[in-house]
Amino acid sequence: MIRIDKYLSNLWYGSRKDVVKLIKDWLVEVNDNLVISPDYKIEWGDDLRIWEEEFEAKEFVYIALHKPADYLSSNKPEAKYQSYRSLLDDCPYVNLLSPVGRLDVDTEGLLLLTNDWDFTHKLISPKKDIYKKYYVKIEKALNKKDIEKLENWLKIDEFITKPAILETISDDEIYLSISEWKFHQIKKMLEAVDNKVVYLKRVSIWEYELWDLKLWEWKYL
Ligand code: URA
Repeated sequence: MIRIDKYLSNLWYGSRKDVVKLIKDWLVEVNDNLVISPDYKIEWGDDLRIWEEEFEAKEFVYIALHKPADYLSSNKPEAKYQSYRSLLDDCPYVNLLSPVGRLDVDTEGLLLLTNDWDFTHKLISPKKDIYKKYYVKIEKALNKKDIEKLENWLKIDEFITKPAILETISDDEIYLSISEWKFHQIKKMLEAVDNKVVYLKRVSIWEYELWDLKLWEWKYL
């Protein structure tokens, strides 16, 4: 249970004062009943109608987004780049969300978003060895030795990578699955074998995939 004014201002209905005004203007309904007091307590699962917009009061929200390049995986815009949040302006819960791990601004693919910290922790904890799979277009073909290094261990910065899974698609395309979340990890792994990432896309995180999501699209899990 949570006060309706608190819940709505956590979403995108402005300050508590703005929400009180909405209530006074008879624009807030819960389960088809008009709300007249800002301290009205809602239950998770209640149907809300704010002005014309209808949605459910949810404690936890889980979303998969197919992030395009040129959008940040952080909650705030920075320099010339918009946050992923600007791609979810039709989602009433957008202001509650944070990304599960990061994805580079120039990288496409699966970004999981939630307000459930336990879920995030389970997926990003270094103890859990959760694999993320990337489709990688590379500058030139890998030789046997490169493949062995990528699959076993490599030193990047001050860090030794854990075993990775490499699947060859063609001379210049691979799938690489890694269990760590180090900054620019795939790019640095390829650089460490004197190669280069030309295009990078995350296709899955553990059991979560892009499924039928097209670039820019999102859906509830
Ligand atoms: N590795 C990278 O280099 N970039 C990402 O965004 C994710 C993994």
